[in-house]
Amino acid sequence: MQETIVLSGLRPTGRVHLGNYFGAIRNWVRLQDQYRCFFFVADWHALTSDYADPSNIERSTFDAVADWVAAGLDPAKSVIFLQSQVKEHAELHLLLSMVTPLPWLERVPTFKDQQQQLTDKDLNTYGFLGYPLLQTADIIVYRANFVPVGEDQAAHLEISREITRRFNFMYGPVFPEPQALFTEASKVPGLDGRKMSKSYGNTISLTASADEIRTLISTMFTDPNRVRRKDPGNPDICNLYQFHRLFSSPELQARIDTDCRSAAIGCVEDKKLLADIVIEALAPIRKRREELDRDPSLVWDILAAGNVKARERAAETLELTRAAMKLAFRELPR
Ligand code: TRP
Repeated sequence: MQETIVLSGLRPTGRVHLGNYFGAIRNWVRLQDQYRCFFFVADWHALTSDYADPSNIERSTFDAVADWVAAGLDPAKSVIFLQSQVKEHAELHLLLSMVTPLPWLERVPTFKDQQQQLTDKDLNTYGFLGYPLLQTADIIVYRANFVPVGEDQAAHLEISREITRRFNFMYGPVFPEPQALFTEASKVPGLDGRKMSKSYGNTISLTASADEIRTLISTMFTDPNRVRRKDPGNPDICNLYQFHRLFSSPELQARIDTDCRSAAIGCVEDKKLLADIVIEALAPIRKRREELDRDPSLVWDILAAGNVKARERAAETLELTRAAMKLAFRELPR
C-alpha cells in the first residue's frame, strides 16, 4: 500500500501567534493522526529575504519548534525537522534548476510583488528568484502527496506541480504531483482588525501570559459604530466577536450575539469575558512551552531526531532522482 505523505513548512518568524495557530499549526496537529507527516522550519527560505541579517534565525527556529510542540505537534507522530540540516533539499534544488525555465520563476506573482513591497531589502537575487524552486525541492524530496498551506501559497504550489510534471516527463515518473491542501483555515483578525501578522504588530502570542492576554484584548477594536455603552452593537463586524467564534462554545456565542445587539453587554465587559476564555484555552499550551523553556535541549533533541528521519526519506528520493538523471555512477563507491 502506498502511504500518503503530508509535508509543510514555515519560515522561522519567532513565536507562534494566534494567526499562525488557527491558520496552520492546528491543522498540522490534526493531520498527524491521519497521514505520515513531515513538518519543518524553512531556515534557508528565511535567508532569501533576510540574508543581510540572519542573526535571528537560530532563536526563531527554537521558538517556532517549541511552540509547535507545545501546541500539540507530536514528534512520535510527525517528523519535525530543520531544512538546512537535510542537504538533499539543496541537491534536488540544484538538479531541478537545470530543467526549470527562467520565465516560470519570473512569472510567479510573489516575486515581483515582494520586490516592490519590501523596498528596504534588495531582493534582486538568484536565491530570491529561486524561492519557489527551493520550495518545490522541499516538497518532492519527500515525494509528498499533500501540502497543507494557506491560499497565499497557491501560486507556489502551482509552479511546484509544473516543475514536477516536467521532470517526470523528461526523466520518468519519480515524483507524485503534490497537491495543495487548503484545509479550512480560520482567518484570525489582529487586534486592529487587519489580518493578524507580525509585520503589523497586532498579534497575540499563542503562549502569552494571562496579564498579556488581558491587556492585549482590552486594546482590541470592536464594532466601530458602537460608540456609547447603550448603542446596540453588530457582532458581524466586530473583531472581538470573531474571537468568540474561535474560542467560545456555540451557546455562549449565541448569547453574546443577542446581548451585543440589544446592548445588554458592553464591549468592556465582553473583553473581560473573552480574555478569561482565551486564558483558559491557552493555559495547557503555555504550560508545555514553559516546560520546554526550562530544558531547551528537549527542543533541539526533537529536531535532531527529526533530521535523521527526514534525511533517510530524502536520501532515498535522491537515489531515485540521480538514477533517473543518469547520475547513479554505480561503479563508484558511495
Ligand atoms: N513558503 C512557505 C511560507 O512562507 C514556507 C515553505 C518553504 C513551505 N518550503 C515549503 C511550505 C514547502 C510548504 C512546503 O509559509
